[in-house]
Amino acid sequence: MNLDFSQIVPYIPFILEGIWVTLQFVLVSILLGFLLGTVLALFKISNIKLLKWPADFYTSIFRGTPLILQLAIIYLATPQLTGYDISPFLSAVLAFGLNSSAYVSEIIRAGISAVDRGQTEAAIALGIPYRPMMKDIILPQAMKNILPALMNEFITLTKESALVSTIGYVDLMRRAQITSSRLYSYFEPLMFVAIIYWLMVMVLTLLGGWVERRMKESD
Ligand code: ARG
Repeated sequence: MNLDFSQIVPYIPFILEGIWVTLQFVLVSILLGFLLGTVLALFKISNIKLLKWPADFYTSIFRGTPLILQLAIIYLATPQLTGYDISPFLSAVLAFGLNSSAYVSEIIRAGISAVDRGQTEAAIALGIPYRPMMKDIILPQAMKNILPALMNEFITLTKESALVSTIGYVDLMRRAQITSSRLYSYFEPLMFVAIIYWLMVMVLTLLGGWVERRMKESD
């Protein structure tokens, strides 16, 4: 065994920069996923089949194929169609955002349908119109189911983000690999980024726990 953690010291700033590089596209992706996921969820709970079916089909495709494949299709295959190269950043945001929207739409749809039917029935019996019923009665209760699940999605995306190292996006994971190839040793750089990913996930987990407790308090 020849472990020498001191050899990664010169590479630490380079690796640490990767935290922001990773977070940058994860944040944009989660935002895109949330916006698109909300629209998809509204399509899914609507009674209009022409909206519901495409939204269900979309979800099925994005949840039914590997994310790494979706990433490769966007980064490697679309230039063949369009004739334009697409940057690793844009590919990453699109793949993660589109993929996440499929999961988020289910989170929101399930969160809304988990609200007791009696709430809708009572609102209708009281003659409350659809919009205020949704905005003031159903959605505030649905939020309790939705927000903690969204935090989990955030954690999932943060971990899955390492996949972008396969398309030359110089994220945390890629930085560990580059450092390894310079040092001819893998253990130290990989362990170092493992700890960084774990810390990032721990912070998000704590944040998630806090959100969940806040939601419970208002019960
Ligand atoms: N490993 C899964 C895949 O390859 C990740 C799916 C992304 N999950 C998510 N909640 N956005 O398909």
